[in-house]
Amino acid sequence: MEQLQQGEIKLSLMEKLTGLKKKTAVFISGTGSNLKNIIKFSKIKKSPISIDLIVSNTYQAKGLKYANQFKIKKKVFNFKDAEKNILTLLKKEKIKFICLAGFMKILSKQFIKNFDGRIINIHPSLLPKYKGLNTHSRAIKSKDKFAGCSVHYVSAKLDSGKVILQKKIKIAANDSPTSLAKKVLKQEHKLYPAAIMKIFV
Ligand code: GRF
Repeated sequence: MEQLQQGEIKLSLMEKLTGLKKKTAVFISGTGSNLKNIIKFSKIKKSPISIDLIVSNTYQAKGLKYANQFKIKKKVFNFKDAEKNILTLLKKEKIKFICLAGFMKILSKQFIKNFDGRIINIHPSLLPKYKGLNTHSRAIKSKDKFAGCSVHYVSAKLDSGKVILQKKIKIAANDSPTSLAKKVLKQEHKLYPAAIMKIFV
């Protein structure tokens, strides 16, 4: 048996030979700019994933429009007690990989166990700094010189799973949380596909 490095997801010989992609769900709660970006990435030939399902905890998520635009199945769950139903849907749709992209709910230990090592998230800070919310204002308040974003595996502890890739950018003296968020988001759109490319072998 070939030994996998920790944090690698193996593509089967069949997938390699046929270019068959791992069926992936993206979970969102908001604007969905990362979702749109991942969908576009998934359509290029070398992408190891296809986006087959969009899950949200709210109908307010603007990103749900990309389901219609790109003809991808979408499902909104009221997250209280919904995890069992979500797992059933993921199984039905043969989803093998999950990307969280601006998803504002915390998944339970049990849920994560079902997709162990197969859920990743993007976080707008240089983890382990600034887990949780308001990362940009916290970085500015702390007079940090750098901000950035991280793609990491999702573990039971919030924003604490193994980091796959990070991108660091300089904080300008006149940056506000809003201007910084804009700059970081631009980098997020490069980082997420790069992290996906990195973990599939
Ligand atoms: C991003 O900054 C992401 O890092 C964070 O939430 C934001 C989502 O933005 N987790 P979008 O919905 O992808 O535009």
